[in-house]
Amino acid sequence: MRRSLVAGNWKMHGSRESIADLLQALIRESGLGVDGVDLVVCPPLPYLQMCQQLLSGSVWQLGAQNVHSQPCGAYTGEVAAPMLAEFSVRYVLVGHSERRQLARETDALVAEKFSAVLRHAMRPILCLGETLEQRESGRAEEVVAAQLNTVLEHSGVSAMADAVIAYEPVWAIGTGCTASAGQAQEMHRFIRELMARRSAKVASQIRIIYGGSVNAGNARELFAQSDIDGGLVGGASLKADEFITICKSVS
Ligand code: PGA
Repeated sequence: MRRSLVAGNWKMHGSRESIADLLQALIRESGLGVDGVDLVVCPPLPYLQMCQQLLSGSVWQLGAQNVHSQPCGAYTGEVAAPMLAEFSVRYVLVGHSERRQLARETDALVAEKFSAVLRHAMRPILCLGETLEQRESGRAEEVVAAQLNTVLEHSGVSAMADAVIAYEPVWAIGTGCTASAGQAQEMHRFIRELMARRSAKVASQIRIIYGGSVNAGNARELFAQSDIDGGLVGGASLKADEFITICKSVS
């Protein structure tokens, strides 16, 4: 039985005050019926320490939105995995489509970041997903397979035991245009089958979460699919009530 996971990706949103308010509401509300789910928030980096302090003793775990592949060095503006680990970060997003597109991150770089996270005893949340153009030209599975295989070849299938995969079709992110439950389930099953070719055990254990315009209205149907183990939530995770409703939809 896979334990579900819901992670909020706050991207470049919030302030000291709004994030403190949001966390306090999440901590208060999560005591009221969110069971059997790993709950994660990924705040912007400057708020990590504040979040670490506020979340201490709660069920919420801390995630980061990005990491550098090297442990230290002359990389102005970057943050290394051991630094994140010092702030009790447990999960790190790697290969989010906004970074693949805006920061030109390649599959090979994403694979290096994936192993950097594992080396420092945190769990990568590996984001995979196709663009609208790739889907419409019938290449969605090919693109997702290439993204996954680069990581598998770099780190080996056993490394996946500690990871989470997030299937996030690019056309569904921040657009309000969610993949249907059927479309999402089909891709999640495909990803699990790709894993099973290398290890049936890892394939059955790995959590594959869905991201892309998840909201309080569509979460329950998405999370009810047999290969969907939770969600990666952007916009809707900035509103405490809605985010808690989403978390309860999986529990
Ligand atoms: P969204 O973002 O829920 O706002 O579509 C999801 C994500 O980018 O992880």
